[in-house]
Amino acid sequence: MSVSLDLTERRVLVVGASSGLGREIGRIAARAGARVAFAARRRERLDEAVREAGGGAIAVGCDVTREPDCARAVAEAVDALGGLDAFVYVAGMSPLAMLAEADADEWRTALDTNLVGAALIAREAIPHLARSHGRGLFISSYSVRECMPGLALYRVSKVGLDALIECLRSEHPDVDLTRVVVGNTGGTEFGLGWDPERTQAIMDLWRERNVFPNDTTMPVDVCAEAIVSVLAVRGYVDDIAIMSRATDLSLDESLEQKQAAGGDGGA
Ligand SMILES: NC(=O)c1ccc[n+]([C@@H]2O[C@H](COP(=O)([O-])OP(=O)(O)OC[C@H]3O[C@@H](n4cnc5c(N)ncnc54)[C@H](OP(=O)(O)O)[C@@H]3O)[C@@H](O)[C@H]2O)c1
Repeated sequence: MSVSLDLTERRVLVVGASSGLGREIGRIAARAGARVAFAARRRERLDEAVREAGGGAIAVGCDVTREPDCARAVAEAVDALGGLDAFVYVAGMSPLAMLAEADADEWRTALDTNLVGAALIAREAIPHLARSHGRGLFISSYSVRECMPGLALYRVSKVGLDALIECLRSEHPDVDLTRVVVGNTGGTEFGLGWDPERTQAIMDLWRERNVFPNDTTMPVDVCAEAIVSVLAVRGYVDDIAIMSRATDLSLDESLEQKQAAGGDGGA
C-alpha cells in the first residue's frame, strides 16, 4: 500500500526556510498541497523558494535573533494564509569553537538563534495553533546525545531547545508539539563558513575519540520528507528521530562536496 502526503489547504510557517532542510520542508509541504510561508533572513533565497513552491506560498523576512521580527513574521504568515495550522522551527546555526576559545558573542548567537528564537516564534504562533488544533515542530539534533569537542555551544543550545519543548508542552497541552531529532544531513549549508583546517582538525579529534554516532550523511530531501510526514498524520507525535543509514554517503564524501561549495559535514 502506498501512502502519499496530503496537506491540502494546510497553512504552514517554516522558519529557517531559505536553504537546506527548511527550504526542502517548505518545498515538499507545498507539493503536498500546503500553503507555505517561507521565513528567514536572506530575502532573495526566500523569493526563489516561493517561486518554486507556487500555490499561494509567501516569503517572510525574519531574523529570529530580533524579537520584533519573530512577532511580525508570525503575524504576516497568519494574515497572508488566513490562520496557521503548523509551524516548523528549523532555524539553526553552530559556531565551531572549543570552550576555551568561545566568546560571549558566539554564545549569544548560538543561543539566540537555536533557543530564544524558537521560544519567541512559539509564543507568537501557539495561540493561532490552539484555535486551529494545529502543531509545532522543532528541529533538534543527534548531537544532544553526546558531547563533541568544538560543538559545545551548539549542543547546549539544542539541549535547551529540548527542555523548552517539554516546558511548552506543560503550559500548552492543547497544541501538539513535536521534537524532531535529526542526524547528519548532506546538501545543506550548515557550517558554511567554518574554517576548513579547523574543521578537519576537529573532525579528526571526533574520530580519534570515537564520538561519531555514525559516519554517514542522509540526503536532505529524504530527511525533509520524513519531517513533513509528521504534518500529515492525525496522531500526536511527541518525539521522532531521523538518522542516516550506514550505507548512506560517507561524511568524508559529503565534506568534499560541501567544501567544494565552501562548507562542512553536518551536526
Ligand atoms: N545538517 C545537519 O547535519 C543537521 C543535523 C542535525 C540538525 N540539524 C539542524 O537542522 C536545522 C537546519 O539546518 P541545515 O542543515 O538545513 O542548515 P542551513 O542550510 O544552514 O539552514 C539553516 C537555516 O536557518 C536560517 N537561519 C539561521 N540563522 C537565522 C536567523 N538569525 N534568523 C532566521 N533564520 C535563520 C538560515 O536562513 P538565513 O541565513 O537566510 O537567515 C537557513 O534557512 C538546524 O536547526 C540544524 O541545527 C542539521
